[in-house]
Amino acid sequence: MKNKFLLLALGCALARGAMAQTKLTLQLDKAEKTVSPLLYGLMTEEINYSYEGGLYAQLLGNPAMLDMANTGQGRGQGRGGFGMQRPAHWVLTDSTAGRLSIERTNGINAATPNSLSIRLEADGVGVKNDGFWGIPIRPLNTYKGSVWLRAEEAGADAQVCLRSVDGKTVYASADLKGIGMNWKKFEYTFTTSKDVTPTKDAEWVLMPSKKGHYWMSRSTLFPPTFNNREKGLRADLMQMMKDMNPKFLRFPGGNYLEGNMFKERFDWKKMIGDTDERPGHACPWGYTSTDGMGLLEFLEWAEDVGAEPLVGLFAGYVLRGDYVVGPYLEPFIQDALDEIEYVMGGTDTKWGALRAKHGHPEPFPLHYVEIGNEDWFDRSGSYPKRYRQMYNAIKAKYPQLNIIATIGGHTSMGQSMNVDGVKVDIVDEHYYRNAIDMYRNAFQYDSYDRSKEPLVFCGEWATREGEPTPNMNAALGDAAWMACMERNSDIVIASCYAPLFVNVNPGGMQWTSDLIGYDALNSYGSPSYYAQVMFANNVGTKIVPIEATNVAQFSFEEPVRGPRGRQQEGVQPEMRTVTLNQVYYSATKDASKVYLKLANVRDTEQQVDVNLGNSVKIAKKARKIEMKGAGPEDTNSITNPRHIVPVTSKAKVGNLFSIKLAPYSIVVLVMDYK
Ligand code: AHR
Repeated sequence: MKNKFLLLALGCALARGAMAQTKLTLQLDKAEKTVSPLLYGLMTEEINYSYEGGLYAQLLGNPAMLDMANTGQGRGQGRGGFGMQRPAHWVLTDSTAGRLSIERTNGINAATPNSLSIRLEADGVGVKNDGFWGIPIRPLNTYKGSVWLRAEEAGADAQVCLRSVDGKTVYASADLKGIGMNWKKFEYTFTTSKDVTPTKDAEWVLMPSKKGHYWMSRSTLFPPTFNNREKGLRADLMQMMKDMNPKFLRFPGGNYLEGNMFKERFDWKKMIGDTDERPGHACPWGYTSTDGMGLLEFLEWAEDVGAEPLVGLFAGYVLRGDYVVGPYLEPFIQDALDEIEYVMGGTDTKWGALRAKHGHPEPFPLHYVEIGNEDWFDRSGSYPKRYRQMYNAIKAKYPQLNIIATIGGHTSMGQSMNVDGVKVDIVDEHYYRNAIDMYRNAFQYDSYDRSKEPLVFCGEWATREGEPTPNMNAALGDAAWMACMERNSDIVIASCYAPLFVNVNPGGMQWTSDLIGYDALNSYGSPSYYAQVMFANNVGTKIVPIEATNVAQFSFEEPVRGPRGRQQEGVQPEMRTVTLNQVYYSATKDASKVYLKLANVRDTEQQVDVNLGNSVKIAKKARKIEMKGAGPEDTNSITNPRHIVPVTSKAKVGNLFSIKLAPYSIVVLVMDYK
């Protein structure tokens, strides 16, 4: 059989870009290392309108009256100007017939001092909300809403409705009876008819039965949610995540864990219980979180997609550089211990009992917690002390927990760290790279010193090509990187892409290249999303070592980089030739199958000759899942959501076979033992 490969090879030029006939020998009999069961997971934080205007299904913009917007009038209006301000998202149905303003006293509760003062000078005028770049309308959808109201004079009623933005079509409505002089929460449901055409060009309107002075607070609207959870999460996005088969959910960040200032950290105790009593806070990505997505919502999200929580604990450092250590860190450590108890404590514990009161008596499975986030940004060098203090406190109470540090491995963004006498068990490494750098580093863990270095959690990674969502080039970089993590998943115990979500409307994105895009009505997966679906759903339990020879390569010229990659202005950079693999691979197996993953990252077809040895007999037919793009920039979008998707077919395989990889393609072969 060897001769067959030789003869095939003779006809092929090995010149750059030509078919090189990569040869992979899968050593099934040497598959001893275990694939980490947590290898593929999810990472999330409030960024790009991920929850507000995203996963958190609440549909009204500025529901707690926390935000102001420029009116576009007045001196210096516009970005950074001092224009006249109005309550964001709320306007009168007739702006000439009254006035809206925010009042900051006499709120509904201590967490909600703000309310919307609505002065109506004519009958038939109301207040409306434009949602998050629209409000989704679908046939036969039952919406649940609530609104707090009071009036200067008792006696009026009101109607709430969803209607088209031109006001001509009412999709659903409900009556609210008896607005009094004291705050009252009105709850309502309404259902759209079966004939409505799906649209997001809709608005929510509250129309009092007569003119007067009214106040409104906390006004929310929910469409049907995933698993019908009360005040739950958007069904399409949840399904997309479930389809990724994630094993854990890293939350709440990311920068969102830390916040710019201490008062803007993820202060979980203010984010549990009645959503009307959560004050909300500024998120570091430039907008306000109402905190409807609080600790329990994250935990139930993990549960609903079949993942376990991986909780990032606030570690006394905020993004603008302030930090606390020693006795000043103690209250935050107590918060972290309480948080762990809320997640996994029995109902006989204080915080476990509170979780039960909030509707979830069953403790959540928790095995991993992380101390802080990206603490290499803490130039003060306080992390080792903070880490040690928190590590010791957590281990004393929960010795069974695995604790992740944010610095510590030598590959960790080039940082090394003395963690003040505490061994780093697991280090969180973040990799945001372009496709070329993904290829350049696609073997970085193959030579990892397993005897000296900590285990690795790739807690944020992405190939950043394309925006708002990554393109095929990015998916190929991701495939090369995932193959690397998978080949080394004895030490890369977990990984998760970031960011996960982006609202694709203008102004929705703060970070380019996000896995899943959406607007108020629709959502789509990027090629990178589908690459993860392909990888995470087809993984065995043991790593199959691969002997790779004659691997197809490509070369290109690049400047020899100066210090920190900068070139001197006006000086012709010195160039060098870089040669990288064109084909990337990984293989795993379980008791009945072998899973081979291949990526061809360039524009020439590539043949790969695969030899699975003789230790097991491989069936002649395999399941082949293939995703390919017409070019590196080929992509999906909100208007062309399924342009690039994996396609499943049958492939001829066996113990010795060849496969042709189309240009710019990712292939997973699922092969059965005979
Ligand atoms: O994923 C976006 C940001 O990248 C995260 O908030 C932060 O942890 C990292 O710098």
